[in-house]
Amino acid sequence: MNRFVEEIKEILKTEVDLSEEEIERIIEIPPEEKLGDYAFPCFILAKRLKKSPEKIASNLLEKLKPKDLIEKIYSIGPYVNFRVNKKKLAEFVLTDIFEKNKSYGKDILGEGKTIVIDFSSPNIAKPFGVGHLRSTVIGNSLYKIFEHLGYKCIGVNHLGDWGTQFGKLIVAYKNWGDEKKLSSDPIMTLFDLYVKFHQEAEKKPELEDDARSWFKKLENGDEEAKKIWQRFKDYSLKEFEKIYLMLEISFDSYAGESFYNKYIDQTIEEVQKKGLAEKSQDALVVNLKKFNLPVCLLRKKDEATLYATRDITAAIYRYKTYRFHKLLYVVGSAQKLHFQQVFKVLELMGYPWAKDLVHVDFGWIKFEKKILSTRKGDVIFLEDVLKKSIEIALDIIQKKNPDLEKKDEVAFEVGIGAVVFADLSTKRQKDINFDWEEVLDFEGQTGPYIQYTHARLCSLIRKYGKPVKKDVDFSVFSLEEEYSIIKKLDDFPRKIKITAEMYEPSILCSYLLDLCSVFNRFYQKERIITDDKNSTDSRIFMIKGVKTVIELGLNLLGIKAPERM
Ligand code: ARG
Repeated sequence: MNRFVEEIKEILKTEVDLSEEEIERIIEIPPEEKLGDYAFPCFILAKRLKKSPEKIASNLLEKLKPKDLIEKIYSIGPYVNFRVNKKKLAEFVLTDIFEKNKSYGKDILGEGKTIVIDFSSPNIAKPFGVGHLRSTVIGNSLYKIFEHLGYKCIGVNHLGDWGTQFGKLIVAYKNWGDEKKLSSDPIMTLFDLYVKFHQEAEKKPELEDDARSWFKKLENGDEEAKKIWQRFKDYSLKEFEKIYLMLEISFDSYAGESFYNKYIDQTIEEVQKKGLAEKSQDALVVNLKKFNLPVCLLRKKDEATLYATRDITAAIYRYKTYRFHKLLYVVGSAQKLHFQQVFKVLELMGYPWAKDLVHVDFGWIKFEKKILSTRKGDVIFLEDVLKKSIEIALDIIQKKNPDLEKKDEVAFEVGIGAVVFADLSTKRQKDINFDWEEVLDFEGQTGPYIQYTHARLCSLIRKYGKPVKKDVDFSVFSLEEEYSIIKKLDDFPRKIKITAEMYEPSILCSYLLDLCSVFNRFYQKERIITDDKNSTDSRIFMIKGVKTVIELGLNLLGIKAPERM
């Protein structure tokens, strides 16, 4: 933590019977100005000393003495409150940001540790629907944030490229496929075939048997089946690439479900050897009744393997390959049960790392109130959503700033940023109600609002017209508004760590919104560039710090920060 916290620890450690780590964990940043810059709550000590926390706080107060960076100590209720020396705070924080720049908030927390992030993972032969937006952007942001904290990250796109649905598609393709249509508009054609299969199978259930046997062929390496499947896959990857290019997202591995086919027998053997597998109606299952979970199906009676079998295999493979510290699955809450089963089976298999598997779950995304699902054929394409957002952004920019250069480029970054931010700023487990007007409101709690604030900061620095230099006069900062900005900037490294700890990019989003709002409050009240050279230099130095942190924060969310808007 920072120097101020270090000093508070120094002050407290001889007077309280707690370890330094404990003290550090307990120290809070109070929500209100009058409660000081930091506070130490006495509730824990109350339990141990069997005295009221208020009494302990006032007793402590008598013994504690201010030091270098901590200027004043007082007590309100059960808290001991600390005020820092403002000038030193400004100097430390702003100089730190200036020197570290994009490395501000970097940490060694993750040194030598690898985090595997399983994210995006769309299903091939289907359009990239808006339903996969959340996994894609949450995963990408966690990747960047953990990397900032010193972890080595491995992004895996666990493509849905295996399973009985490919049997269905092959059957549909063989029955109703139109070669010309397929090569001119592959994804739509495949999608239509998939929908058609489900419609037809309702009338002719025997189609389901055909589908099963074609998937069986595929699993056994049948040449014809493999060739058709490979074509579907190539078309899909090309399509997905368009989205990843727009979002500037890349992966370290595209090992999807099909990749694990060759290791499946080994997994099943191992489960059997460990005495975990049993036969149930000719299928092979792991009974998880003791753990209040439904049986985990490993192999159907026709020998076809399942999603869960492949996930168990994938986890073992990933541990062998990456020796991960944590393996994150960024997947919707609908699959909660699936992951509980998979994690439990791996635990029963005796893998101690099973405890390091985390399902980073998230809620639904609803568009104009409809929940999206591909089966019914009313899927909303992510590409369309992104394009529409860019279009609206361009419209707004055209009205607001008709003389802006490179409007298309800016509209692209704003349009994409708006969608990504709308997604990430919603607490992950909550559902999103996507509303265009809200998402693109330049004055709302949105990505464009943050980007707009960033552009305003850049414009101030341009207006200043000189290179920003350090060693400014830090005693000019006296306003409460300035002080709130500096304190917010100081809090960035801590917020990044909490974001990572909770796998919750929305924490970073709220932080950025708060930072913009404290800055805008200041900006509306005060002129920044004035005849007073001394004060102007200092304020621009602070402005530069705000700009750096906003840009860095946006980038960690996977969002661009244009300099003009
Ligand atoms: N393809 C799956 C889906 O779209 C998501 C895969 C998530 N990752 C995993 N290892 N199961 O629902």
